[in-house]
Amino acid sequence: MIWFFDSWIGGLTVLREFQKILPEYDYCYFGDNARCPYGDLDDALIRQYTEEGVEFLFDQGAEIVILACNTATAHAIRYLQQVRFPDKKILGVTIPGAECVTEGGYKKIGVLATESTVRNRAYKERVHIIDDTIHIQEIAAPELVPLIEAGIFEGTAMEQILSNHLGKFDADIEALILGCTHYPIIRRHIETILPRLPIIDPGYESAIKFREYLIRHPSIEKNLSRWGKTMFFTSGNTENFMKTGSKILEKDIAHIISLPL
Ligand code: DGL
Repeated sequence: MIWFFDSWIGGLTVLREFQKILPEYDYCYFGDNARCPYGDLDDALIRQYTEEGVEFLFDQGAEIVILACNTATAHAIRYLQQVRFPDKKILGVTIPGAECVTEGGYKKIGVLATESTVRNRAYKERVHIIDDTIHIQEIAAPELVPLIEAGIFEGTAMEQILSNHLGKFDADIEALILGCTHYPIIRRHIETILPRLPIIDPGYESAIKFREYLIRHPSIEKNLSRWGKTMFFTSGNTENFMKTGSKILEKDIAHIISLPL
């Protein structure tokens, strides 16, 4: 099984890409919706919540965990990989997103993300490890996650907030990273406002890189179960998760296990 962690439903956009690209495997998704949004929390709390969520997944027997959240990846992945769970496999979404920038030959990029991902300079730092001449402009859009969580994926409020934040980017950015896993849900509106700009979705990039990772790591791949099934856990309201989550995955979430953290 491939295990996913996110603060709530945003990570379903990452799961969706994995299921399209690697449909044969089994998946387990845990959304910490009781404590979402992480994007407004302080750094220590984001790390603590992510650690608790990931620990729960390892306690269930997870062999490999994908942090399907930019905010959690930005604040916790190094600590989890190097200090807390050095013998386990944990992958995030920001490195595949950053690699897409350098592999695409872009010289100036915009990143739309949560407040805490921007504060952490997550994409700037990761892109600059590969090429420090690339210009990265990071803009926070704190209002978007609460709206999406409320099931509001369109409408005037959404469009005004998006126009306002997207209007802050320099006119000469060559592509835009969706630096929050909630944003692919409103990608259509972003593309309407910036019609000719290439969009980078780190969730999609992560699925592509994960397929390559499995080829390079046959010992991990051979242990993954393959029934094409998905299991869901949430720390919060199961009804909300099933309703909004089914909309995002475009298929019914029929069963979800409640897990108060
Ligand atoms: N989905 C998370 C991300 O990718 C953010 C949501 C939140 O603020 O909890 O950053």
